[in-house]
Order: sequence, then structure tokens, then C-alpha cells
Amino acid sequence: MLVGSSSALLMAQPSDGPDRGRMIYREHCMECHGETGKGDGPRAPFLSPRPGNLVSAATSAKTDTELLRTIAQGKPRTAMPAWQDRLALDDQQAALRYIRSLVQFSRSSPSSPPAP
Ligand code: HEC
Repeated sequence: MLVGSSSALLMAQPSDGPDRGRMIYREHCMECHGETGKGDGPRAPFLSPRPGNLVSAATSAKTDTELLRTIAQGKPRTAMPAWQDRLALDDQQAALRYIRSLVQFSRSSPSSPPAP
């Protein structure tokens, strides 16, 4: 009985961890931006302009404020929709955190120090 309840706990996801951003991203953003943010989602070939590479230097160099504004208001003359009426601010921020985490995962510079 004890064992059963502790494994249930292990399976429960915190509602505000990085997993939340991942969930939102996979549900709303991945179809265009792709699983790893490289702009290669299933809808991307049908869009013009194509969704950009969110793990690119150009996007990474933008501030959270800039990117959150794009997420909230969309990007004029592109397929990027405005999310402010569809996602809570928290969720927009969680999605951005997830995008930032994709950048870290895909970085493979040989000069970066090994993880502790
Ligand atoms: C219908 C396709 C589509 C969906 C769905 C979509 N995007 Fe976009 N997104 C685009 C396009 C097209 C652009 C403009 C080209 C670019 O800058 O990547 C864009 C741009 C962006 C940018 C700006 C990048 C930059 O460097 O300025 C961010 C950030 C972004 N999207 C985040 C998201 C997030 C977060 C979601 C989900 C909540 C999402 N997008 C859903 C198509 C989409």
C-alpha cells in the first residue's frame, strides 16, 4: 500500500516545473516551430515566411521582453499568432522558458565545461 502511493507521487508532475512549458510548447507551438525549436514542425513547409529557428543566435540574443511581446502579440505579416487571448501570461512565460531550455540542450560547444 505504501509502495503504491509513493509510485503515484513519482508519476505526478509539478504543475509549474519545466514540464509545464514543454506541455504548452508541444501542444501549441511544435506544429510550426518543430520539436526542437528549429522551425521544422509539420506545418512549417506550408508557411511563408517559414517559422524561424528558435534556437538560433538571432533569437537567443533577444531579450525575454522582446520575445514575450512576440508571443503575446504575434508577429505581423507572418503566421505567428497572438497568444495573449489564448494562453495565460504564466503559460506564455513557461513556453519561453522551454524555448530557452532547448537552446541549452542543443548547445554542443566542445569548449563548454563538463556538467558537474
Ligand atoms: C502557425 C504557426 C506558428 C505557431 C503555432 C507558433 N508560431 Fe511562433 N512563429 C511563427 C512564425 C512564422 C514566426 C516568424 C518567423 C520567426 O521569427 O521565427 C514565429 C516567431 C516566433 C518567435 C519570434 C522569434 C524571434 O526571433 O523573434 C517566438 C519567440 C515564437 N514564435 C514563439 C512561439 C510560441 C511560444 C508558440 C506557442 C505558444 C508559437 N510561437 C506558435 C509561427 C508559429
